[in-house]
Amino acid sequence: MTTSSSLRRLHPAPVTTTTVGDAYDVLRPAPADRPWMNLCMVSSLDGSVAIDGSSGGLGNPNDREVLTTLRRLADVVLVGAGTAMGEGYGPPSKPGQRIAVATNSGRVDLDRPLFESGAGFLIAPESAVVDETRVDVLRAGRDRLDVALAVTRLGEISGRDVHLVQAEGGPTLNGALWEAGLVDELDLTISPIIAGGDAPRIVSGAAQLRARMELAHLLSDDDGFVFGRWLRRHG
Ligand SMILES: NC(=O)c1ccc[n+]([C@@H]2O[C@H](COP(=O)([O-])OP(=O)(O)OC[C@H]3O[C@@H](n4cnc5c(N)ncnc54)[C@H](OP(=O)(O)O)[C@@H]3O)[C@@H](O)[C@H]2O)c1
Repeated sequence: MTTSSSLRRLHPAPVTTTTVGDAYDVLRPAPADRPWMNLCMVSSLDGSVAIDGSSGGLGNPNDREVLTTLRRLADVVLVGAGTAMGEGYGPPSKPGQRIAVATNSGRVDLDRPLFESGAGFLIAPESAVVDETRVDVLRAGRDRLDVALAVTRLGEISGRDVHLVQAEGGPTLNGALWEAGLVDELDLTISPIIAGGDAPRIVSGAAQLRARMELAHLLSDDDGFVFGRWLRRHG
């Protein structure tokens, strides 16, 4: 499939047809002390986030439209260094948008177009050795990135008020975001594929969490993909 197929909204009732725009372009009230954070991921039926090392083989056109729609709405995109490098992140298509790349080590290839364009910047602890003449760096934490602090300060480096952050994984970064209680929304596409292999689940390396989510919508398409939007239950 190279073009989007029609979407059915299964929840909330009544069952109806919908579009990615109508389903995902909704109000997201930021908490008082930080931006709203949505996490957008795709997973196979058996919980894998990758086939042959990348998420590309799991998606379809509707999944990609969900990702690009959410990106368009976001002030900043946040991604782990492994994903930014492995999935070949380039500059964003939304003018002025910036992409924050989380790293502890600072060992990130600054020759990539993402950084040469000036759109990419690093969030890193004080200990990370980075050539700051080549890339903006938001420092938070001494030896390990303090991701909660970094998220509250994204506006300092992105040059705009940050109300909505779109996190895009990978699983290691997701683990830290969830442990810090920073994820307000999970936009999870379930791909009708059993992937096998040993790629991680969508959250990796976190302590036992039991973070309770509530289903905001469930969509499906003619390819058998299922698109869930889940909101963090507070309290
Ligand atoms: N299915 C999907 O939706 C989806 C989405 C994204 C990624 N993926 C897949 O996930 C796999 C990569 O997984 P991954 O867990 O290695 O990805 P990742 O979290 O993007 O990358 C791990 C690296 O990112 C940095 N990092 C992560 N969390 C950090 C934190 N809290 N503080 C500071 N730095 C942090 C570290 O970089 P340094 O080593 O530089 O310190 C770490 O080694 C790939 O196969 C990719 O295709 C799938």
